[in-house]
Amino acid sequence: MTWVAPKPGEIVVDATVGHGGHACLLARAIGPAGRLIALDVDDYNLSRARARLEQAGLAQGGPHVDLIRDNFANLAEVLDRLGVDKVSVVVADLGVSTDQLLGGARGLTFTESEPLDMRLDDRLTTTAADLIHSLSERELADLIYSHSQERGSRRIARRICQARREGRIRTTAELVKIVCSALGASARWRSGRLHPATRTFMALRMAVNREMENLTALLRLVPTRLSSGGRVAVISFHSGEDRLVKRGFLAQQRLGVYEIITKKPIRPSEEEVGRNPRARSAKLRVAMRTADVQEVA
Ligand SMILES: C[S@@+](CC[C@H](N)C(=O)[O-])C[C@H]1O[C@@H](n2cnc3c(N)ncnc32)[C@H](O)[C@@H]1O
Repeated sequence: MTWVAPKPGEIVVDATVGHGGHACLLARAIGPAGRLIALDVDDYNLSRARARLEQAGLAQGGPHVDLIRDNFANLAEVLDRLGVDKVSVVVADLGVSTDQLLGGARGLTFTESEPLDMRLDDRLTTTAADLIHSLSERELADLIYSHSQERGSRRIARRICQARREGRIRTTAELVKIVCSALGASARWRSGRLHPATRTFMALRMAVNREMENLTALLRLVPTRLSSGGRVAVISFHSGEDRLVKRGFLAQQRLGVYEIITKKPIRPSEEEVGRNPRARSAKLRVAMRTADVQEVA
């Protein structure tokens, strides 16, 4: 949180509260005079965050806390509903939390056989299985390639279409087998190496949850709601997302609205990766709102 330097009394937004790790740090820094507005699309994670803030003694006697189930693409509407015009800090830690990945039975992992769902927000109506069974071979290949740069996307799409003619592809284990056979790879995974199905799973998850679209919306709206001197930090885990953040910040800097604080993305230290191996691909970018402009392109 040092990069966004939250100060006592500020109004801050955690756009992806998850289990509340960042939220606790923000809440402590802004103190009882501040206000923390925390969003997540996942109801279970919101309850985890609430419990963590309570355990840390930050729910009572701490800042005013609003925990809200909504998509950060709707942050402007959320702030309007709360009667908040400008905020001092917006933090977005993209992607999924470890237990969504490993323990949620949502089909986000290829290490267990789970239903091919992949929705972080169970109010969404399209699952990964729905996509796999409704898109054309070409659309599937494009979806996989555009989200993950998987070089075997055409072979994988062809194999998926062959398999679906024989019946519904229902589980992660079935999809893993299809992807591995398309790539001529072994489905047995040696820990420490990239699983052959990693990119396909990531691409489907990103498409189901409209992750690139949501991030684009967030990057557009944040400059209109940050106060002068306000800071925005985005942690991404994927080169496509990082490119969006980099370009979004640069566009605002050219307009004189942002000053980019991190000339290069900040990568986690070896110690952080040791504690949390999933952090190895994380990139943090931070910008500061310089001008007080009402309308930002
Ligand atoms: C990496 S975790 C965040 C971890 C959090 N920083 C912490 O300290 O525990 C990402 C979280 O963002 C949520 N999420 C993903 N996309 C979202 C979106 N568009 N709007 C709101 N929350 C989202 C996920 O449900 C997940 O809980």
